[in-house]
Amino acid sequence: MSAVPVIAIDGPAASGKGTVAAAVARALGFHLLDSGALYRLVALAAMRSGVPLDTEAGLVPLAAGLDARFESGRVQLHGDDVTAAIRDEPVSEGASRVAVHAGVRKALLARQRAFRQPPGLVADGRDMGTVVFPDARVKVFVTASAEARALRRQRQLAERGQEADLGELLDEIRARDARDSRRAVAPLEPAPDAVTLDTTDLTAEAAAAFVLDRYARRAG
Ligand code: DC
Repeated sequence: MSAVPVIAIDGPAASGKGTVAAAVARALGFHLLDSGALYRLVALAAMRSGVPLDTEAGLVPLAAGLDARFESGRVQLHGDDVTAAIRDEPVSEGASRVAVHAGVRKALLARQRAFRQPPGLVADGRDMGTVVFPDARVKVFVTASAEARALRRQRQLAERGQEADLGELLDEIRARDARDSRRAVAPLEPAPDAVTLDTTDLTAEAAAAFVLDRYARRAG
């Protein structure tokens, strides 16, 4: 067991967990792992090189050899800045599809655990508290209603100058939830020792304060 503390923040798409994780990491001066970005990079790499998203044998070498860099909030794939590209809707959908393969998940495991460096790590994803860091000091499962999540996603897209239909976003979110929750390997579910935080009516600041308070109680 590592002495470096981990705060695991899991939850469904657009639940606000990424924003909460980033705020908590900033407040504590901890490293940040956005594990979803790794699945997004595998999907993008596959799409760019014509590897079908349902062929595990084609995806595993891509995941194992992913030449990815995370620096100052930017993400690079093979030296190419893909920070915006990995957030596109087809890549979001692709990430959820590549994530069902056990071999892909296994290939990304050591890379995720390598983010555990002093003074600590805030890890955001679907299986941080269940599979990747089962000994995390604090485990939070962030939820919000599908409607609230679709609205947040619409706002995020609007900030990037993209218009999106709320009904379509809601359908996409529900489809991703279903795929992420029903997959056989590491499905989206709270760890038995996770505390659930419903952010439907919470600001990002209030949600981050909740996690920080939880950590302060466990850190002593
Ligand atoms: O957190 P995100 O929306 O960026 O994640 C994109 C997809 O990656 C999500 O639909 C499921 C998958 N994922 C996963 O299976 N396990 C993780 N720890 C993180 C993401």
